[in-house]
Amino acid sequence: MSISVSAPGKAFLIGEYAVLEGAPSLVTAVDVRAVAHAPREDGRGQQPTSVVACAHARVVEYLQQAGVAAAGDDGHPDVDTGRFYLGARKLGLGSSAAVTAAVVGYHLAAHGLDPRDPEVLPDALELAMAAHAEAQGGGGSGADVAAAVLGGTLRFEQGKAVPVHPLPGLHLAFVDAGYPAITSELVRRVRQGQAAHPARYSAAMDVLADASRSFIDAYLFDGDDPPDDDGLRERFERLRKATATHNHGLRLLQELAGATFITAEIATIVEQAEAMGLCAKPSGASGGDLVLIMATDRSALDRLGERLRRVHGLVLRTDLSAHAEGLRAEQRLPTNSRLAGFFKLSVENRRRAVAEATGLSMDRLRELDAGSFGVQRANHMIENVVGTLELPLAIATNFRINGRDFLVPMCVEEASVVAAASNAAKMIRAGGGFAAHSDPPWMIAQVQLTPALDAPADAEAAAHAIREAAERLLVLADEAHPRLLIRGGGARELEARVVDPAMLVVHVLVDCQDAMGANLLNTVAETVAPELEALTGWQAGLRILSNLSDRRCAHVSARIPPEALAGRGYTGPQVVDGIVSASRFAELDPYRATTHNKGIMNGVDAVVLATGNDWRAMEASAHAYAARDGRYEPLAIWRKDEAGWLEGRMSLPAAVGVVGGATRTHPVARLALEILGCQSGAELGQVMAAAGLASNLAALRALATEGISRGHMSLHARSVALGAGATGPEVEALARALVEHGEIKAERAMLLLQQMRARPRTDS
Ligand code: MEV
Repeated sequence: MSISVSAPGKAFLIGEYAVLEGAPSLVTAVDVRAVAHAPREDGRGQQPTSVVACAHARVVEYLQQAGVAAAGDDGHPDVDTGRFYLGARKLGLGSSAAVTAAVVGYHLAAHGLDPRDPEVLPDALELAMAAHAEAQGGGGSGADVAAAVLGGTLRFEQGKAVPVHPLPGLHLAFVDAGYPAITSELVRRVRQGQAAHPARYSAAMDVLADASRSFIDAYLFDGDDPPDDDGLRERFERLRKATATHNHGLRLLQELAGATFITAEIATIVEQAEAMGLCAKPSGASGGDLVLIMATDRSALDRLGERLRRVHGLVLRTDLSAHAEGLRAEQRLPTNSRLAGFFKLSVENRRRAVAEATGLSMDRLRELDAGSFGVQRANHMIENVVGTLELPLAIATNFRINGRDFLVPMCVEEASVVAAASNAAKMIRAGGGFAAHSDPPWMIAQVQLTPALDAPADAEAAAHAIREAAERLLVLADEAHPRLLIRGGGARELEARVVDPAMLVVHVLVDCQDAMGANLLNTVAETVAPELEALTGWQAGLRILSNLSDRRCAHVSARIPPEALAGRGYTGPQVVDGIVSASRFAELDPYRATTHNKGIMNGVDAVVLATGNDWRAMEASAHAYAARDGRYEPLAIWRKDEAGWLEGRMSLPAAVGVVGGATRTHPVARLALEILGCQSGAELGQVMAAAGLASNLAALRALATEGISRGHMSLHARSVALGAGATGPEVEALARALVEHGEIKAERAMLLLQQMRARPRTDS
């Protein structure tokens, strides 16, 4: 296996400015990773950036001095930093420090030195610090490099990092304020302000240093003696005060520098968080990018996230987790989904290309051979089995989501779906790829209540009694699934809805983590039902999940430059206008919206099926969601932005998991998940939504230009050619001949094939 080493990004919990003046800070490693690996076999290695070159030079010199590497040894590795991107925008999470650390770690590992070994780790840190300082021309604190090498959470002061325990019971999250952080510019303006007004600068720095010390004091605890509930409340109160002081210090600095540190979006996030009793502060130099939120109740973070998205269009990034591991070896290279000419390869060579791009073995890919599922396995899965039905499984290429490449397995019987999705994903890639985020994985368990025959019925009073007992009912719901609590999920909220004077519906909202959740939701509904009966005197009826997963959406968007859309005799701007008009058509007319959404589900369902998820649930949920405002509407819409680029967005309920169900029992579904490399249900939902948005773009582009038939015809011709018995290169040749004849029928195909075969060969 070829060597690959990754290092995490970082975010400051406190002290990002104070540390520059020698005060202590707290920095945490964030699980977006730079991955250093040997250049791929195709020989298209990267040009090293100055950061890579500095890290490379330092570590090679070190290895040579230690006698481990020979002179002239070692090319530099390639480094993937895709995870630091959201569409075309880079997040301010310290990518250059992560790159430096990953390159150092890579070379150490390549020479048999484990960078995590306590003997090696200090050297790795020193090398990365020196290389980063050299590449950046000094100026930084080094906290970012320490986080990238050591991981976890660190108290960082005057160049020294000391690992600290994360405070138990304190939950952290990051909200994206929507603009790139402008660190170097802000620091430059601060330095100018310092030169012009030294006293004001010192005063602001005193406030920030004070905030940092108080915060750290409230955060640190003796690892053996975690605070109890009261202790945690008291510490949280101190963290809140320190955070407010920090924000005040930032405002002083902002006045001094004459630049915007606290943008309108950051102010909104802080305000909303404080209104919910949470605390929030920008993480980093600011002017944009990430805002750190802290809470002692995980569900309060999710509730804030929902409110920020719904009301203010701001995103809580559920995928950014703190206290991440430092340097570590990776089992798998980052996927490369740009497989030019993939469609022209034989099936065997396509498998080879997938193996190369994902690091999976060819043996593993042989599970894709017909019959690997088998009648016996099927017989254990459902009843009355007499056989299996096989469908084509293909790989869509070119997908890039949040800076990460995916090869997308799609299982579908309709020609052109995979080609169209791959082609559209390539156009979207030209604009930086898909940006995506997910709601927390909240699903709804429903309990229906109706009045008991002999009791007076007051639905509002019954609903009130249930709401009053919400806390106790949530604890009861959690008892149904102790393992879910250990995985970080559990019951979050309770709603009592009077849907009729004689019918009450109770919703228990459950965070299902990475499971689809159907079984666990049903158990929750059955567990709380007797208590609901006892509370109200009403009778429980149905106890089952709701498949309308509108609290668990994947949200995807894409921006495409017009030139990437041009073709088929149309200019880019013409295609943009055509697609925007097609979107309006679907927004105005449910007849068109249905077909528009069918095209989206071409992509979505193909991935749902390939990964062994429940496509009936997905379909039911998507269409109910499309009609959520009382009228059936398109799931994806398209607009032209100020720059003339095409912009598309879609929200899709995505109740899908990467654990349990057929994702475990079906070998091909399991392999499909491995090819994808999705680590969470949320990420899988984003891939499905991206496949849907790409399919929609491809369909609208065809419809708004030459019409759908021509493209469909050539693909249809291939399947007719196959049906007529064509093999190998005959398939393409016969398909072309059929299109030229304008008659794509089986009889014509057989005739043409006979003629082709009778013709003397001229190629030998
Ligand atoms: C065909 O499977 C899907 C389309 O009809 C979708 C659409 O019209 O947008 C082409």
